[in-house]
Amino acid sequence: ALISMRQMLDHAAEHGYGVPAFNVNNLEQMRAIMEAADETDSPVIVQASAGARKYAGAPFLRHLILAAVEEFPHIPVVMHQDHGTSPAVCQRSIQLGFSSVMMDGSLGEDGKTPASYEYNVDVTRRTVEMAHACGVSVEGELGCLGSLETGMAGEEDGIGAEGKLDMEQLLTDPEEAADFVKATGVDALAIAIGTSHGAYKFTRPPTGDTLSIQRIKEIHERIPETHLVMHGSSSVPQEWLAVINEFGGAIPETYGVPVEEIVEGIRHGVRKVNVDTDLRLASTGAVRRFMAENPAEFDPRKFLKASTAAMKEICKARYEAFGTAGNA
Ligand code: G3H
Ligand code: 13P
Ligand code: NA
Ligand code: ZN
Repeated sequence: ALISMRQMLDHAAEHGYGVPAFNVNNLEQMRAIMEAADETDSPVIVQASAGARKYAGAPFLRHLILAAVEEFPHIPVVMHQDHGTSPAVCQRSIQLGFSSVMMDGSLGEDGKTPASYEYNVDVTRRTVEMAHACGVSVEGELGCLGSLETGMAGEEDGIGAEGKLDMEQLLTDPEEAADFVKATGVDALAIAIGTSHGAYKFTRPPTGDTLSIQRIKEIHERIPETHLVMHGSSSVPQEWLAVINEFGGAIPETYGVPVEEIVEGIRHGVRKVNVDTDLRLASTGAVRRFMAENPAEFDPRKFLKASTAAMKEICKARYEAFGTAGNA
């Protein structure tokens, strides 16, 4: 059944687990997520980005998620809009039937330029007012995703700040977080702790200086009732980078957020963990390998099946590691 994010994350907080929020753009991702959830008895958050809406079209995405709910009626599903850039964008998703929206007011309407604290409070508070009137949950964001190594935002085009950020934007301030939650009434808060979107998060495995789990603890201590959200939480599996590069790819050395660091975050109030890149890497690796090993194949269902299986393994591993399994 379709449920609100608030309902799901309240249960997660009560029982001390986290829920991966996977981005969805196509049928194969949707099937991988649902089959993994079915096999591990996990609740599901699927999220649609602006890029996904552009790729698949909002109605197709919506019906893909509704089809999942129909096929797996015993699994609770949150249909979440990722990184909304204005209250109007969020309103449109609410009209379409999303049960949760993210109003990312850390950036302006272009989704790139860091915005003022006052702007963020204003757009987020307005979105909460509108969404809560419809029984829809709201995720806000305070601080900007970006590298503590370089001060740069993620490399991904599309969503996220562009260029160099101020150091104080890169780590969410606990006092400001408390004020923000009080002023806006958000159901969940995305925080900045050194992660960024995409595959190029860290040039070497992260340490406490480049990935601040410590900051999660400080924020959680200040606002223990608030559900925290980690964006840019792909782990960038080295084994999938190796497969991609073995079969014709060219991805330079790079590191993601280790699963055990996320698990530590979950011990300190992280309830929603956004993962997109890992499924992209697994899908690409599986398709490259299948194509190389089966040069005479031309039925797309064959290589897309390999893609689905690879993504499903990632989903199952995250459901198990985050403690989501067994909670559907
Ligand atoms: O928020 C970032 C997600 O990875 C979505 O990326 O805008 O390319 O769909 P996208
Ligand atoms: P990744 O790029 O690390 O998968 O993060 C996705 C995300 O935060 C979507 O909002
Ligand atoms: Na989101
Ligand atoms: Zn994000």
